[in-house]
Formats: sequence, structure tokens, C-alpha cells
Amino acid sequence: MKYAIETSNLTKSFGDFTAVDTLDMKVKNKSIFGFLGPNGAGKTTTIKMLTCLIKPTSGTAKVGGYDINTDPNEVRQKIGMVPQLVSLYKDLTARENVELCADYYGIPEDEKEERMNDLMELVDIKYAENKLIKQMSGGQKQKVSVVASLIHRPDILFLDEPTIGLDPTTKMVLWDLITELNDNGHTIVLCSHDMYEVDLLCEKVGIVDLGKLVAFNTPQGLKDNLIKEKERDLLSQKPSSTKIPQELEKTSPKTQLGLGEDDLKSSRELTNILNKSKELSIMINNLDDEMVEEVKKLDIVYNVKVNDNGRLTVDVDKFIEDGVNNVIRSIVKNNGVITSINTKDPSLEDVFVELTRKKTVDESYIKEV
Ligand SMILES: Nc1ncnc2c1ncn2[C@@H]1O[C@H](COP(=O)(O)OP(=O)(O)OP(=O)(O)O)[C@@H](O)[C@H]1O
Ligand SMILES: [Mg+2]
Repeated sequence: MKYAIETSNLTKSFGDFTAVDTLDMKVKNKSIFGFLGPNGAGKTTTIKMLTCLIKPTSGTAKVGGYDINTDPNEVRQKIGMVPQLVSLYKDLTARENVELCADYYGIPEDEKEERMNDLMELVDIKYAENKLIKQMSGGQKQKVSVVASLIHRPDILFLDEPTIGLDPTTKMVLWDLITELNDNGHTIVLCSHDMYEVDLLCEKVGIVDLGKLVAFNTPQGLKDNLIKEKERDLLSQKPSSTKIPQELEKTSPKTQLGLGEDDLKSSRELTNILNKSKELSIMINNLDDEMVEEVKKLDIVYNVKVNDNGRLTVDVDKFIEDGVNNVIRSIVKNNGVITSINTKDPSLEDVFVELTRKKTVDESYIKEV
């Protein structure tokens, strides 16, 4: 089976409102898929259809090889789900809730104990196994919910904002667990508003907005797309009088234009138009004038700025191989003590904001659904 999930024209309407609109999407088997979108975009509704909690208005999907419309019971055996809102029995203890799930899936008695204990230890909730759900904190309930969803070792696990409200350490425990489950062959569908989490874990990302798929690619593919789009925008804004020398692609900004120091501003403008620069920001403990002068001498940098607390920012020609390293080498050669280095590449959050702001579908962001 190549795909764990394949939706075709999947649609859900509530009255005359369409929450999920003819969704076509494929999730590769044994992958971690990030399912993103603004509030109300249709993520939970999609997951509810894929987990057979609600029926589609039209269209269908195959989950674990079974059709959600015709074989919902088979689908249910293949999947586990951590819902957006914890759905546990409040008057039962953590252990009793997990046990109920185990019994629902018919886990044999001799295996049940071991599985429950292992999972509760794994997410560090065993210490509270006899506590009533209604007496638990949000994070503790979330952990119980994860244990309950994994008790039958589902092939495909749906996690609807699983780390919301979790402390940073517990979040990392859950990230490790997701990675470990995936290493063991489980497919994971992760709904999240935490772009760092998605970037860290997910192989592919789908973004929905107003019930429609507006992006589908790897996180890096989406970022590259945004860079290209910005490049196109900048080029279309380029004043007609600006001539772009052909050799620009090959040489550095200063030499390519034959410019002196005074002309650097225009060189920078032109290079910016072509979006060829990468901003590099370096924190140096013992930054001095000599170090700054040496960096300025490099042929691959421009717009060198120093701020009060020892941060040096420079624009480096991103097409020059080893450009960033050359700047760092120059600082180290002058005995600079570097404490941090940052580059300003677009983040997944930038992509998300850009796409969901548009409210239209830009096909260039969708790569083979
Ligand atoms: N049972 C329902 N009846 C009517 N409308 C509904 C129902 N369930 C969801 N909706 C609507 O469908 C849309 C999509 O909701 P959904 O819960 O799928 O969004 P979401 O992408 O999960 O958002 P969030 O990030 O806030 O969790 C919303 O406008 C919501 O109001
Ligand atoms: Mg939701």
C-alpha cells in the first residue's frame, strides 16, 4: 500500500455551509503528515470523516486501504485518534479509561496490562493512573488521551493539536514518541498550529483554507516556493530603467557591477531586486573596528551594520558558494568570539501567513497531491 490515506472529492457541508470542499489529498504510508490551516479551515471536520466519526456529504476516502463510506469498521481497526478536545470519561480514573479502550479493541487480558503500563510509563503518566480524569490538569489528560489512542497499536494515528497546552518538556516527550512510532512504521497525521513542531516532524505538509487545499509539499518545498514568489514579485516591481547585467549570476555584487564604495547602495538595491542576498546576523563578544573592516573587505558582502550590543549584520550574496562561511572565517581569523549566528530564511510560518492571507488557491504551492 503506497498511501495510508487517499481522499477523493471529500466534502462535508453543514446546511448550506461547506466546511470541507472537494478535498483531494494523498498521505504516503509510514510518513508523518502535517495538516495545517487557520481556525475554522476544516481540519477537524476532515479528520472526523477520515476516522468515521461523521459521514461525508459527498466524495470519499480510503484509510488504511479501506473505504470510509463502505468499510467504516475496518477503518476503525486501523486508526487511533487523539481528538482536539479530550474525550475521556471524567468520573473514571486514567487507568480505567485506558482499560475501556483496550477492551473495546479486544486486546487480550495478558497483553493488556503490559501495554497499558508500558505506554503510561512512556509518556510519564503512570504516577497518576488512579487519579480521576476530572481531577487532572490539561496536560495530564492529554497524556491519558495519547495512551488510550495507542493501546491497540494503530497503523495510522490522527493527532488533532496534541501538544496544545503542554509544557516544553512534555512536548518534547510527545515529539520523541511521534518520531519513534513513525520509525516503527506508523503513519501519523498531525494537525497543529505550532509551525516549529510541524517543520521539525513532518515530511509533507498540506495547508487547507476555507475547506480547500491551498498547499501541499515538503516544508522546505513550501519555503522555496515563497522565495521564488517573492523573487517574481520583486522582479515585476523592478523599474524599467534598471539594467541587469548578464554576468550578474556569476560574479559578486561589487565586481559584477563595476561599482565603487559610493555606489554600493545602488548595487544593494539591484541585488535586492533580484533577491540574491541572505541576511546574516552574528553576535560577537569582542567585536571591534578591525573585525568590521575586514568583513567589509570581503567581495561577497554588503550593507555591513553594527549594533550597540555587538551584533554584526551583513547581507551575503547567497549564490556565492561558501559565502556565509567566508564571513565567519574572517571574524574567527581576527580572534572574534562568536556566540550566535542567524540567517533570515523564510519560515513555515511565513508560508502559512502568506497563503492563508490570500484567500485564493495558488496552484504553484500544490505539488502532486
Ligand atoms: N457540527 C457542525 N455544525 C455546523 N458547522 C460546523 C460543525 N462542525 C464544524 N463546523 C464548521 O465547519 C468549519 C470548520 O470547522 P473545523 O472544526 O473543521 O475547523 P478547524 O480547521 O479544525 O479549526 P481549528 O484550528 O479552530 O480547530 C467551521 O466554520 C465550523 O464552524
Ligand atoms: Mg480543529
